Amino acid sequence: MDIKITKTTAPKAKPQKGDKLGFGHIFTDHMFIMNYTEGKGWHDARIEPYANISLAPSAMVFHYGQEMFEGLKAYRGADDSIYLFRPDMNAKRANASNERLCIPEIPEDMFVDAVKALVDIDRDWVPSDEGTSLYIRPFVIATDEFLGVAPSKTYLFIVILSPSGAYYESGLAPVGIWIEDDYVRAVKGGMGFAKTGGNYAASLIAQVKAHDAGYSQVLWLDGVERKYIEEVGAMNIMFKINGKVVTPALNGSILPGITRNSIINVCKAWGYEVEERRVSVDELVEAAKNGTLEEVWGTGTAAVVSPVGKLRYMDDVMTIGDGGIGELTQKLYDELTGIQWGKREDPYGWRVLVK
Ligand code: PLP
Ligand code: COI
Repeated sequence: MDIKITKTTAPKAKPQKGDKLGFGHIFTDHMFIMNYTEGKGWHDARIEPYANISLAPSAMVFHYGQEMFEGLKAYRGADDSIYLFRPDMNAKRANASNERLCIPEIPEDMFVDAVKALVDIDRDWVPSDEGTSLYIRPFVIATDEFLGVAPSKTYLFIVILSPSGAYYESGLAPVGIWIEDDYVRAVKGGMGFAKTGGNYAASLIAQVKAHDAGYSQVLWLDGVERKYIEEVGAMNIMFKINGKVVTPALNGSILPGITRNSIINVCKAWGYEVEERRVSVDELVEAAKNGTLEEVWGTGTAAVVSPVGKLRYMDDVMTIGDGGIGELTQKLYDELTGIQWGKREDPYGWRVLVK
């Protein structure tokens, strides 16, 4: 892919070592943009200074939400090498979302090359403090100036970068999770498996409710029976029940997380039995009551491996273990981040050098 590069003449001040980065507040000097026009395909790939974009108020994305986004990270290794983690998986999932949303396919190598080229230009922005990384946000928006409900004929594919620390303010401290029994996020046949803004818009009202009650995230139940565990607002969920690792199966209404897939592989390689199946909330409450619910953690690019210390479902508030970080949860966090930051062997071939 030919990428036209225009470098900024006014580089911004970068965060310094030791600065608290938070998640998703700071943006680097450059962004990648590429247009799509029906009949012409993807064209005019370019890297430009990070800046506002101009769109007509009638641009379709503003009205019917035809958009897709992805999330992955770049990590600075000890020798200053910059690595991506399984970017091919994000490229594949982007196209699964694109297909569901009638957005044209982006060739996988184009997606990965765009990410690599942009990260390479802004490589000095990849932070080096423990637990930090460069969050990468590729997205596509529908840009036709038209108010009819139909797939757009023009799009923009954009990639932006954000140096980030922990997703939750609490860092690796266990989070409290609210199992939502009223609102639902997605149903089979809907868009739950796709990464698209509408799913997150649908989640906000319950998130506000959970926050007001002192919980940091919502755990969704299935949209039909409100009985089976699905996933958390920004991560998949896993349980250690009686020595086994249990996680909801990919059923069409939850996001097929890349971290989920990686952790399942690591657990299996370590000899754990892993069950991907339906998990009812009643089973969880029962396991918490009889002491077999040993650990709970979330998995996600932003959230990494995030220990859950407390679950609330209606009148039941369940403290997991002693409310601290579970032993397996900590081991999985160390293994995954060890591979991502180039500190540990990568027997799976997941780490990809940017250049
Ligand atoms: N589920 C939801 C709703 C998410 O937003 C995310 C984050 O991307 C995940 C799960 C985890 O997916 P991944 O591990 O690919 O980041
Ligand atoms: C990610 O983990 O990449 C996500 O997209 C989560 C995001 C919704 C903050």
